[in-house]
Amino acid sequence: MSSIVNMLCRVGQIRRCAASLSQTLNQVAASRQKHTLPDLTYDYGALEPHINAEIMQLHHSKHHATYVNNLNVTEEKYQEALAKGDVTTQVALQPALKFNGGGHINHTIFWTNLSPNGGGEPQGELMEAIKRDFGSFQKMKEKMSAATVAVQGSGWGWLGYEKESGRLRIAACANQDPLQGSTGLIPLLGIDVWEHAYYLQYKNVRPDYVKAIWNVISWENVCSQPQDLFNAQIGLPLPQG
Ligand SMILES: [Fe+2]
Repeated sequence: MSSIVNMLCRVGQIRRCAASLSQTLNQVAASRQKHTLPDLTYDYGALEPHINAEIMQLHHSKHHATYVNNLNVTEEKYQEALAKGDVTTQVALQPALKFNGGGHINHTIFWTNLSPNGGGEPQGELMEAIKRDFGSFQKMKEKMSAATVAVQGSGWGWLGYEKESGRLRIAACANQDPLQGSTGLIPLLGIDVWEHAYYLQYKNVRPDYVKAIWNVISWENVCSQPQDLFNAQIGLPLPQG
């Protein structure tokens, strides 16, 4: 009889432990730091005439803000599902995580790639790498512009760094698929070709927008994007062939 009582006591303890653990997990989830919309380092009108203030204001304060909000909501749901061991819900949340997480990552890079003092050409090792991998700066621009204009529907054109080969690559991603998470390339420069990025000013003429955006590209920022990797590795001896 006493062994049954002991066993019931033990079950009660386990249940209390489980309840306490669940409460702790929920508290950890609730206290997780939320993502926030990063401030721009320039005014909405600072990139005119190449990108007008109305586009910048809507793009940053509405579109990017929505990705941030929805990412936070999705992560909260994901944490709850994780705490419950609810794998079905975790799987069901993956598309929202990719879309809103990608939207936040992509736009965060994009704003810093742009500057009212941009344009021109990069200097130093990035320029050497561009010449090595594309023949010339002009050829890189042409190749990236063509790939970006050709994105079907909504998406992004990218200049990325391939760690394995030590080379620069041009890539295009659909929707908000983040470059590194989708291709493994480290993002250096992204061009957003969702219509919200240009339609109010360029209407359906995407090539004109892509042509204009080169005037506000901050090469200083592009050089510093892969802060802990590109700068360290791009200076290594150039790959042969
Ligand atoms: Fe966008």
